[in-house]
Amino acid sequence: MMFVGYLVVCFLATAVNAQTTLEVRLVDGSVANEGRVEVYYDGAWGTVCDDSWDDTDAGVVCRSLGFASGTGVGNAEFGQGSGDIILDDVSCTGTETSLGDCDNAGLGVHNCGHSEDAGVRCSTGVRLFDGITLGEGRVEVLYNGEWGTVCDDGWDLTDANVVCESLGLGAATDAFQSAFFGQGTGTIVLDDVSCSGDETSIFDCGNAGLGIHNCGHSEDASVRCENGVRLVAGSDASEGRVEVYYNGAWGTVCDDSWDDTDAGVVCRSLGFDSGTGVGSAEFGQGSGDILLDDVSCTGTETSLGDCDNAGLGVHNCVHFEDAGVRCSQTNFDDVRLVDGITLGEGRVEVLFDGEWGTVCDDGWDLTDANVVCESLGLGAATDAIQSAFFGQGTGTIVLDDVSCSGDETSIFDCGNAGLGIHNCGHSEDSSVVCENGVRLVDGSDASEGRVEVYYNGTWGTVCDDSWDDTDAGVVCRSLGFGSGTGVGRAEFGEGSGDILLDDVSCTGTEPNLGDCDNAGFGVHNCGHFEDAGVRCSGTNFDVRLVDGSDASEGRVEVYYNGAWGTVCDDSWDDTDAGVVCRSLGFDSGTGVGSAEFGEGSGDILLDDVSCTGTETSLGDCDNAGFGVHNCFHFEDAGVRCSQAVSAELRLVDGTCNSEGRVEILYDGVWGTICDDFWDDTDAGVVCRSLGYSSGTAVGSAEFGQGSGPIIFDDVECTAGDTALEYCQSNAPFENNCSHFEDAGVRCTE
Ligand SMILES: *[C@@H]1O[C@H](CO)[C@@H](O)[C@H](O)[C@H]1NC(C)=O
Ligand SMILES: *[C@@H]1O[C@H](CO)[C@@H](O)[C@H](O)[C@H]1NC(C)=O
Repeated sequence: MMFVGYLVVCFLATAVNAQTTLEVRLVDGSVANEGRVEVYYDGAWGTVCDDSWDDTDAGVVCRSLGFASGTGVGNAEFGQGSGDIILDDVSCTGTETSLGDCDNAGLGVHNCGHSEDAGVRCSTGVRLFDGITLGEGRVEVLYNGEWGTVCDDGWDLTDANVVCESLGLGAATDAFQSAFFGQGTGTIVLDDVSCSGDETSIFDCGNAGLGIHNCGHSEDASVRCENGVRLVAGSDASEGRVEVYYNGAWGTVCDDSWDDTDAGVVCRSLGFDSGTGVGSAEFGQGSGDILLDDVSCTGTETSLGDCDNAGLGVHNCVHFEDAGVRCSQTNFDDVRLVDGITLGEGRVEVLFDGEWGTVCDDGWDLTDANVVCESLGLGAATDAIQSAFFGQGTGTIVLDDVSCSGDETSIFDCGNAGLGIHNCGHSEDSSVVCENGVRLVDGSDASEGRVEVYYNGTWGTVCDDSWDDTDAGVVCRSLGFGSGTGVGRAEFGEGSGDILLDDVSCTGTEPNLGDCDNAGFGVHNCGHFEDAGVRCSGTNFDVRLVDGSDASEGRVEVYYNGAWGTVCDDSWDDTDAGVVCRSLGFDSGTGVGSAEFGEGSGDILLDDVSCTGTETSLGDCDNAGFGVHNCFHFEDAGVRCSQAVSAELRLVDGTCNSEGRVEILYDGVWGTICDDFWDDTDAGVVCRSLGYSSGTAVGSAEFGQGSGPIIFDDVECTAGDTALEYCQSNAPFENNCSHFEDAGVRCTE
């Protein structure tokens, strides 16, 4: 009796429990409105068995979660749960408000395993209709059991995003107004939609009130979403049955002619690098329409909908032919350049299935080569070469029909025919030449570090034997700096890898370290404690004279950041011209403006140039900043340079050879210099031209008054002047002086 009583009590308790509202959640779906159904019972979450699980049951779950309706799926389509299997043999009538109200075998009573876990796909009450291809269309929303439209007043990308993401179609790429995909019929359900972006359903966004609007169907809103494809029933997000969204519903793809190229397009559109196509419903049979058949991608399409096919909805298949994919992510480092002649070039090889293979040159261009060079840290590409220029590779031809947009960080992200798919031979192997084969490592900033070079697929170091500033200069200039100092003894730490260069001996004019004499790539007698480094400074800068009557004059053009441009004449003077002329091997110069040598083209690269005269390059002079100017080309600056015809100088009447009144032989006569503005800088120019290192100026005929003409007055040298006659001054013989103002110097060794 007690025993039976216990059973009755137990049964009643179960029955009461079954009538209680069970908490329900959806787990492991890719969007909020789908997933494995889990219910909370006895202090823990458990699952539901798919025995007799159908759309009516799913509808109860979906409505209890606030969605419009639902589709039931089984066989652990959203993965297997853990914990108890709490419900089995669920059978709802459709009017229940909670899954716990539906008939079932009794809480915790079942004959199932987790491979039978039930799931649902709930309808958000939103669909895209009348699109031209997958993942787009007029936005339609369910209202009072019928589909209506959304007015485009205030319709924007944020609103479109909420729609696309709620449908599992990625972000929106377009928000269209004015019935872009044709006018709908029925009620205009939403107007003045204003989403914040956080909403999971368009119904949660601000709007004028359901059915309230001031619109016509010519204002129907539309969207285009990032993607119209999803993977279903795989063991993780990287694989599954391919389903596509078209005209308000998800459907499947037939496996006729389905291959790895097609799979690649699907996988890349989902953020993977490549894929393998599988057929025969390997990931289970879908329901719904078979939307694509005879799919034939070239590999360069960004979306499956762009591939050739029999026509949306046109097919001769059944669901046991449903196509699937296995996507994979490739490691981004697995590209190398081999068999180049020098640094930073070679045949492009990529790692595929653990082995190195090649890239076919069909469609190979500089944009593709750029992606390779930049992904290897070798700067931009300077050449994309076809026809096995650096020799034929062996192994698999991994990529063909490569088509990069230029934004990719890896060649594997570029459009291609599918990994291993090609119609090429190794005589078509692609190669590249990159801007640079050198990098600086372990310095405190980008201007210094251990020198590492890229040769034949690997980075290695440089030995410091005979390493000097000339070699460093080549490295630094190739990296955009002006000059460099070489250091050795692994001052920036020891590298690993091969020691690729030894006995480097540059002349200084080489564009690249690989062009300098050396012992041969990989040939050395060093250890890593001898790793060479550099400290770079300045900017890589060049200057030339254009359109003059000879090499000594012309419009000043400067090379900066890869291009030649001009200099504006604002504040342009002889001091600035002197710096230009000396950097070109002349002794002095006169500055001219107003495009006296014609107007240049290209950028105006320098303005407000103000040299002190000691600079060795125009690029070192103060200026408004490279490319910063308020000028036109009719203000282009020029110079007239001159070579020193060394005027003779002498020091007279000092107590020793190193001092005296300064006298100069000019136009065949000896004369003196007036002391107006005479200073130590001027004295320095005189003394250095006489072989001393510096000098002190004296005036007021301290070494006695000379005779003859006073040749120069108001002399104002800069420290960079190499001779007195090139210093700024009044015109020769033009002065307001007398000999009691004769200038002198005291020179020091
Ligand atoms: C360059 O590397 C490739 C691939 O590792 C190798 O086969 C070849 O012998 C190397 N060439 C030289 C010159 O080291
Ligand atoms: C000569 O001219 C300079 C300016 O060029 C001036 O500083 C100086 O005072 C003048 N000397 C005389 C004696 O007029």
